[in-house]
This record gives sequence, C-alpha cells and structure tokens, in this order.
Amino acid sequence: MHIARRRGWEIPESRVTPEAAMLNRRGLMAGVGALSIAGALPARAEPNPKFVPGRGLTEEKYATSYNNYYEFNDSKNVVDQAQALKQRPWTIALGGLIKTPRTIDIDDLLKQVQSEERIYRHRCVETWAMTVPWMGFSLAQLLKIAEPLGSAKYVVFETVQDKVAMPGLGSPFYTWPYVEGLAIDEAANDLAFMVTGLYGKPVPPQNGGPLRIALPWKYGFKSAKSIVKITFAEKRPVTFWEGLQSREYGFWANVNPDVPHPRWSQAHERLLGSNESVPTQIYNGYAEFVAGLHEGRKSEKLFM
Ligand code: MTE
Repeated sequence: MHIARRRGWEIPESRVTPEAAMLNRRGLMAGVGALSIAGALPARAEPNPKFVPGRGLTEEKYATSYNNYYEFNDSKNVVDQAQALKQRPWTIALGGLIKTPRTIDIDDLLKQVQSEERIYRHRCVETWAMTVPWMGFSLAQLLKIAEPLGSAKYVVFETVQDKVAMPGLGSPFYTWPYVEGLAIDEAANDLAFMVTGLYGKPVPPQNGGPLRIALPWKYGFKSAKSIVKITFAEKRPVTFWEGLQSREYGFWANVNPDVPHPRWSQAHERLLGSNESVPTQIYNGYAEFVAGLHEGRKSEKLFM
C-alpha cells in the first residue's frame, strides 16, 4: 500500500467480469434468495435493514480472493498462505483502562453478544471497493462487556502475530504488530462492527478470521484483521500505516472524495469484480451515522 511500485486498483484481467446490475434493496434480497436456492449461499437471516448498501453485492469469489493482509505478503494473493492461520483456539486479551483486564475465549465472547448480518460498503485507500454481507456484532456490545473506565479515550486493536503462518512478519519494511484504533465515541457508534462471518460462513482467514472489525465510513486499512488484543487507552495510539508513513496515512482516515491521497485521487472507486468506476462518497456514504461525531474535531486531520 505504501510502496509506489504497487497499485491496488490494477485488477488482473482474469478477475474482471461483466458489470453487475445495480440492485435496489428488494432486488438485492431477491438475488440473495435466488443464490440460496442455487446452493451458493446457506440460508441466512435477513440483513439489518438499517444499513442499505445502495449497490449490488460483490461476488464472494472476488471479496475472498483479492485481499490486503501484509502479515502474509503484500501481493493481494494471500489465500493459500492464510489457510495456515489456525482459527481455534482463539482468545482476545482485553486490557488497559477497563474494570477487569482479562483474556476471553472467542466462543465465550460469542455467547454473550447478539449477532446479525449487515451489508456494508468497503472502500480501500487504494481505490478499490466492494460490498459484502458481514456477520457479527456491534462493537458497542463489546464495549459493554469490557467496561472501560471514564479515563479511556481510545480503543486499540492488535492483530495476531503467528511467525510460522505469516511470512510477512519477517519483512524489514514494517513494524509489527498491525495496530489500529478508534476514539471511544466512534467505537460506540452504531456502524462499528466486529466481524465473525462473511457470505453466511465463518470469515475466512484471508479476510481476517476469526475476528476482525468493519468500519465502513473509514478507509479499509482501519479495519484490523484477526484481532487478539483490545486495549483501552487515554493516549491516541500510533497506528500501523500512520507509523510507517504519516504523510500518507493518518489516524482518522475518514473517506472523503475531495481529499486526494498524496499520490492519487480519491474521487472514484473501482468495484471488485465488475471493475466499474463509481464516484466515492463522503464518509463512504455513511455520513448520516458518523458526520456528527467529528463536529468537535475540526482541528484534526480527519480525512487522511
Ligand atoms: N489487517 C491486518 N492485520 N493486516 C493488513 O494488512 N489490511 C487492511 C485491512 N486490515 C490489513 C488489515 C487493508 S489495507 C484493507 S483494505 C482491508 O484489511 C482489506 O480487507 P479484505 O482483504 O477483507 O478486503
């Protein structure tokens, strides 16, 4: 992502398919139903109707085979290597400024939360985008379980470091672990979603299984994968890409078509699969949920 030689929007010809039809919500649901009947997707509960993606789903084969996961490699083709990352047993350390720091098993955590499906748009800073059905639970539920102290201002996510499964951890270019973070009010907002599934199945390792986050109003790099540690802090963390190149990647990283990356425009995005180019929207189309969060942060560099 930070290396000039690689350009994420250059999707190989083999991955290009005819333009997907733009589906309205009814059409989209009909499409999901039809796929279920055809056996491509298991029967699933209807997605939360509060989050209408406004465009058709990306085909599963594209969303699960074109990935950014630098702990494996920096090529987008991580699927084969990622299968070596064991998904169970899996624990998450909850720590920092909370009532009782502790480690929680993922299956125990899942018993304490209410899961649902949400269809979200995803916009990578490299300008590719997808629309996928995630399964998971709101980050707000996790906050309740963690019981942060009043002094906690930020939530910090850390990704697993499995030196055997992840050859990228040996790369001298990066500073591991992959760290991401949110202000605590952002974390409590309705859109912030802990992901455990994708297309009605457990989220595969290449997409960040068994637990990742989805923050659809921010550039995709904020959505840390394979989370093993969640810490509550008073001080803003230095996040992975920010630490590598703060001129290009910031902490807030809210999507904004009018604020270009120093090396390319952010005005448009290319849909995975169809390769169609569409205009990018402020907050990736989620302004109604999150624009208010930043009213008091005008002095911050909110858009990169
Ligand atoms: N999380 C970890 N641990 N490592 C990564 O390299 N890449 C980020 C984000 N989360 C990344 C990560 C980037 S740049 C993007 S765009 C999304 O994951 C990609 O998610 P996807 O592969 O499910 O599309």
